[in-house]
Formats: sequence, C-alpha cells, structure tokens
Amino acid sequence: MTLSTIGVIGSGTMGGAIAHQMALSGYLVRLTDVSQPALSRATERIRAWMDVSVTKGKMTQQDANDTLDRLTVTTDLAELKDCSFAVEAVFENLDVKQRIFAELDSTLPKDAIIATNTSSMSITVLAESTQRPDKVVGMHFFNPPQVMKLVEVVRGYKTADDTVAKTMELARGLGKEPIEVKRDTPGFIVNRILIPQMLEAIRVVEEGIATPEDVDKAIRLGLNSPMGPFELQDYTGVDVGLNVVDHFYEEFRNDRWAAPLLLRDLVRAGRLGKKTGAGWYDYPSEKR
Ligand code: 3HC
Repeated sequence: MTLSTIGVIGSGTMGGAIAHQMALSGYLVRLTDVSQPALSRATERIRAWMDVSVTKGKMTQQDANDTLDRLTVTTDLAELKDCSFAVEAVFENLDVKQRIFAELDSTLPKDAIIATNTSSMSITVLAESTQRPDKVVGMHFFNPPQVMKLVEVVRGYKTADDTVAKTMELARGLGKEPIEVKRDTPGFIVNRILIPQMLEAIRVVEEGIATPEDVDKAIRLGLNSPMGPFELQDYTGVDVGLNVVDHFYEEFRNDRWAAPLLLRDLVRAGRLGKKTGAGWYDYPSEKR
C-alpha cells in the first residue's frame, strides 16, 4: 500500500509516540493537537527518546534528525487534507472523538482510512459520525508504542475487509505484529483480560493482604511480567485505567466491573502515576 502523509490526531503520551514510531519507520507524519504547547511537549519527548537511542548507539544522530524531518506538527486539522490514513489518539471522551471523526470525514480524501487508538470505545459508534463507516477501524497500540510489538486491529460492524487488510499492512510496516479483533467489544482482547487483573490487584490491597509494592513484586517475580499491575497503572496513567473501568461498567452493566473506591480516591487525589509524579506507591496506608 502506498501511503501519502499519515495524520495523527492528539499529541499526548500515545498520539505523540505513535507519530514517532511512524516517522521512525520512514513514513511522513503530520501530528495535530488543539494545543501548541502540547505539540511542543510531544516533540521534546520524541527528541529525548531518540537522544537515549543515540547515546546507546542504537541510532545515529543523522537518523534521528531525518526522523524529525519526516514529522510536522500543526494545530490546524485542515492541514490533514492530503492524508490517506489518519489515527485518532485523543483522550477517551466519546463526544470529543465523535466531533473529531466528523471533522476528519469532511477534511480527508474520500478514500482515506480513519483509525482510532481508543482502548475501549466502540468502533461502530465512532464510525457513525462519518459518511464512510466501511473505512473506520480500530488500531490499538500499547504503551510504549515504540517498543510494544502488538497492534489490535478492530473491526467495527461496517468495517470493510479492505480497510482491515490495509491497517494490518500499515501495522506491519511499523514493525508491529497486528492481530484482528473480529468483534467490536469493550476492551477488545488485551484490556478485557488486563483490567480484571488490575481490579483484583486493587482489591488485594484494599483487603490488607499486601502492599502495592509487594503485589508488583509478586507478579514480576512469580509470573515473570516486566511490570506489576500497580507499576503498569502508574506507567500508563491511573486515570486512564479508571476511565476504561468506568466504560466497561457502563457497557456490561455488571458489578464485576465496578471501580474500587480506592482507585477513584487515587484519581481524585491527583495521583495519576508517572505524569503527576505520584501514584500507587507511598499512598498513605491509612487511606487504603
Ligand atoms: N528512550 C529510548 N529508548 C527506550 C526508552 C526511552 N525512554 N525506553 C525504552 N526504550 C527502549 C530501549 O532502548 C530498549 O530497546 P532495545 O530492546 O532495542 O534495547 C527497549 O525500549 C526496552 O527498554 P529497556 O530494556 O531499557 O527498559 P525496560 O526493560 O525497563 O522495559 C518497558 C521498559 C518496555 C516499558 C517494560 O517495562 C515493559 O514491557 N513494561 C510493560 C509495558 C506494558 O505492559 N504495556 C502495555 C500497557 S497496556 C496498554 O498500553 C493498553 C492501553 O489501552 C491502556
């Protein structure tokens, strides 16, 4: 598949890193956000990531410069008008995503594919905001997208076979291993399986069975996972986890997915993990 420039909408942790991975893989990328400071922060994160890679001898400074040359940033979504593929990666708010989908639909060429990196929302519902539901697809990356090999390619009710095939092809072009998620269900595969582990880990702490630090140690050393469930939440964002859980609760209407109060407490206390500098560790034990 020959692709012209790829558009990425949303320059947060995931959007910025997805754009980075695309530029690293040789694609021309246009990254857009409503906030210029957010775009500058994303560019800084990309630069810092490549500084590490250059220092480790994994890439040359020339390659890093060339990667940055392939990436342009803009606050004007209309500048995506020549993109043949776009990946939406804004925060998990349905209204915002639907507005962006409608805008992308009127901006992009008629045959362009609109993908979403949503971690839980319905592809079918998002596709309804466009006149091209057959060209709307889920393209779910994992954090950090530069490292994690998996991409879930999610079929909405009306997604065409050709859209799925082209999205799988792009994922392979990014050096990823795509898998097709055949039905549009909350959380797709990985989050559907990961979230129960996260909820059970929080319940273990609430019941006073072990501290978050020891639960992480248990999972790291007992299951050979690179991170325990609390480290992982701090890494991906405690608020991101809560959003997904709340969404599951609404969709499945089952108490099994009710967010533990402790999780909500942490978010209310602003302990969102890496991005705020405080998360599960050192949360006063009397509050647990
Ligand atoms: N700058 C440059 N390179 C970096 C880097 C950085 N800041 N951080 C990592 N890397 C590169 C390293 O160079 C290394 O590359 P190499 O394999 O070619 O040497 C590779 O990434 C691995 O890094 P390290 O070995 O130095 O680091 P760790 O061993 O500490 O691994 C990790 C870091 C990859 C984040 C690992 O801890 C891990 O796999 N954690 C679990 C992550 C996970 O589960 N993600 C999924 C989250 S769920 C999700 O995203 C779904 C969403 O919907 C919520």
